[in-house]
Amino acid sequence: MDQASRDAAVQHPAPSHPPIPAPGGGYLLSTPVPRPVGPRDAAPRRRSGGPAVGRTVGGHTVRQLLPLCAQAGLGAADSAAYARALTEALGPVADRPLDLAPGTPSFLSDDHTPVEFSLSFAVGAAPTLRVLLEPASGLGSLAESGRAGLLAVRALAQRWNISTGPLDAVEDLFFPDRPHGAFALWLALELLPGGVPRMKVYLNPAARGPEHQAATFREALHRLGRTSALDALPGHDRLVFFALDLGDWEQPRVKFYTSHPGLAPSAVGALSTMAGGPNPAELESFLRTAAGLPADRHTRLDRRPVLTCHAFTGAADGLPSGFTLYLPVRDYARHDGEVLDRTVVLLDRYGIDPTPLREALPAVTPRPLESGVGLIAHLALAHQQGHPPRVTTYLSSEAYRVRPPAA
Ligand code: TRP
Repeated sequence: MDQASRDAAVQHPAPSHPPIPAPGGGYLLSTPVPRPVGPRDAAPRRRSGGPAVGRTVGGHTVRQLLPLCAQAGLGAADSAAYARALTEALGPVADRPLDLAPGTPSFLSDDHTPVEFSLSFAVGAAPTLRVLLEPASGLGSLAESGRAGLLAVRALAQRWNISTGPLDAVEDLFFPDRPHGAFALWLALELLPGGVPRMKVYLNPAARGPEHQAATFREALHRLGRTSALDALPGHDRLVFFALDLGDWEQPRVKFYTSHPGLAPSAVGALSTMAGGPNPAELESFLRTAAGLPADRHTRLDRRPVLTCHAFTGAADGLPSGFTLYLPVRDYARHDGEVLDRTVVLLDRYGIDPTPLREALPAVTPRPLESGVGLIAHLALAHQQGHPPRVTTYLSSEAYRVRPPAA
């Protein structure tokens, strides 16, 4: 992304830091899409949880994490250990008071909180809690925070005896001295009972510049022994993230996220190249319910784009063994009450009890669901061979700001 489009996309003034693209505009790391200016571009607002005095990024997110851990069935010792891990991985930003504007306009979340939670549901099991964070967020330049983030990831991996082999193999491709794009490194922790999480790292495929994206990508797959994945991807000109599983996964995945601006719901079925993947009607109906579009409404999803993820586990046929569809639902609803209603319909379709989600939301924020939109940022449907489908809700921290309901 060039400087002009960065400047055009900046949402909040962030003195003393280089501009970074706003959420939405920052989606396509190499091909920005202009975003209409609307109410969500207002100045940061305090969430309704009382004054920010004395609150910090770390304190706020840990206070949200602990009750979410309880919803996911984690015990007190595991929860406390995960809370410490979150704070440590965040680094110095954990101590940053919330009454200061975000130091770096992280594009991890719309209000620039460098943390996002997710609850992933499958039939007959307690939901799994995950936390996505920007390690060492805003610690210096993008290059510096990327390197500090790598150190944080390695320190955590070492503590849990998790190998960073796949990351080590490709590190030089994704952490150049002068990185491009809106982020360098994100880390997701899947918080399992027992105190040892599974880790996922997210990398920017265009870190060496959009013009080198294809080569970066090919080289990374080559080093990871996954060259066949290249042929099995749908057109990946709009590749946005490259992700690697680290740790005790049954089958560690290499994952590619692509974005699909202006997608027609009827076209979603054709996006999956997963072997034995979801049928097109299922994908379309998930998307329609999530976006609030009845079957007879023929319209395109022209706000923040739908994302898809193909996961490769090295199957002999080279085909992906997993496919996930993400809708940035906050752009397609008036308020979170509406989003929750749609989510309950979707969970019900998959035979999943919505109670943990209903109980989790007030643990994240005391605000009424109708008073804003974006608490549930994305809704996702994941298919992975050998597993029942999962419905995942991505929950914003809203540490800095609540997006007002849409008119
Ligand atoms: N905030 C960014 C976005 O909305 C990145 C992101 C965070 C994201 N969590 C996500 C993208 C979950 C897809 C799914 O795109």
